[in-house]
Formats: sequence, structure tokens, C-alpha cells
Amino acid sequence: MKFFVDTAEIDAIAELNDLGMVDGVTTNPSLILKSGRDILEVTKEICELVDGPVSAEVVATEADDMIAEGRKLAKIAPNIAVKVPLTWAGLKTCKTLSDEGQMVNVTLCFSTNQAILAAKAGATFISPFIGRLDDINLDGMDLIADIRQVYDNYGFETEILAASIRTVNHVTDSARIGADVITAPPGVIKKLADHPLTDKGLEAFLSDWAKTGQKIL
Ligand code: G3P
Repeated sequence: MKFFVDTAEIDAIAELNDLGMVDGVTTNPSLILKSGRDILEVTKEICELVDGPVSAEVVATEADDMIAEGRKLAKIAPNIAVKVPLTWAGLKTCKTLSDEGQMVNVTLCFSTNQAILAAKAGATFISPFIGRLDDINLDGMDLIADIRQVYDNYGFETEILAASIRTVNHVTDSARIGADVITAPPGVIKKLADHPLTDKGLEAFLSDWAKTGQKIL
């Protein structure tokens, strides 16, 4: 399972990257806003830091403009994945850029049918949004499972990039279902290490160690 970090915060990416936890990065216009950085500058810095795919999202809504934006973003670095929304214009952009050999991440996916269209348009990644389905009382994880089944039925090679991950359970469930990639905020990735029994066990070991009066260094 690959871990992408869903942020445009350089320091947070660098910290996790140093631990070998970063297989790629995803950004979107809201994350660029949050970073307060220029999209071209910050994306270039991320691409220099991380070897894997770095998603950078187009903001035009007509295909010709989306294609032009995608080509400009693609010039930032060879590891750019151009991110396009799941609209007909986005699918046309996906097909055009994929045919040119460009990695494309089709985002804002909320149905299995949308995921089929993205795969047929040559998407490298499909991004179903789990948390936003949960927000409206649907089960985001059901969507991941459905897409996994359908992609496997037909041998679609598009990778399932489970997105809008808000909890550690979203990560576990995505792994059980067989999502190829999860993208999560740094805080969620860091929480994966937490367990109260680990804390309690360590506390007991350290307490007993102190009683030995020994030192390792
Ligand atoms: O990768 C998409 C992600 O950024 C959306 O997450 O929490 O805004 O639904 P969220």
C-alpha cells in the first residue's frame, strides 16, 4: 500500500519523507490556499523533495483550458500527476494528457460509474472521496470496495487512491479492501503509530529499567 500525503505544507511532507512514509503527495486548490504559497513555487519544491507522484490540480472548467493548464503544471517536474475533476471536460483532459504519457489523477469521484469512466479515459489514479460521502450519511468505504471489485473484474490498471481520509480507521479499511494508495493529512498518518497499550507497556519497561540502575550508553 502506498502512502501519499494530502498537504502542501513542505515541513510536514519533509518530516514524513525522512521516515520513508511518503510515496507521493496530493494537493488541491484548498490545500494551496491553506499553505499561503504560490502553486508553481510550492509544487516545484514538493517535487524536488519527493520522488513519487505529486498531484497538482487544474482549475479551468473547459477542456481546452484544462489541457493547457495541465501541460503547464506537467512542466514543473517529471513526477507531476495532473489532477482533474470528474467532469466530461476533466475526462477529455485526462484522455488527452494520458495519451501524451502524462500521469493523471481524476479527483472528486463519488460513484463507481464515475470511476469506470476515469479508467476508460486512461487515468493513472482515481480519487474516491471517503470522508465527504460519510459526511452525507453514505458509506465512503462501500465506494472503495465497489471500485476495487469492478476494476478487478475488468483488469483496469487505474490505481485506486482513497482520498478524503479523515480517520485512522479509514486507512485500515482502505488497506483491507485493497486500495492501491491512501492519501491522508499528515496528522492522520502520524496517528497510525498511536496505541495506548504501547504507551502503557513502554512506561512499565522504563520504570523497571530505572530500578536496574543500568545504562546502555
Ligand atoms: O484528497 C482530497 C482531500 O483533500 C479531500 O479531503 O477532508 O477536504 O474531504 P477533505
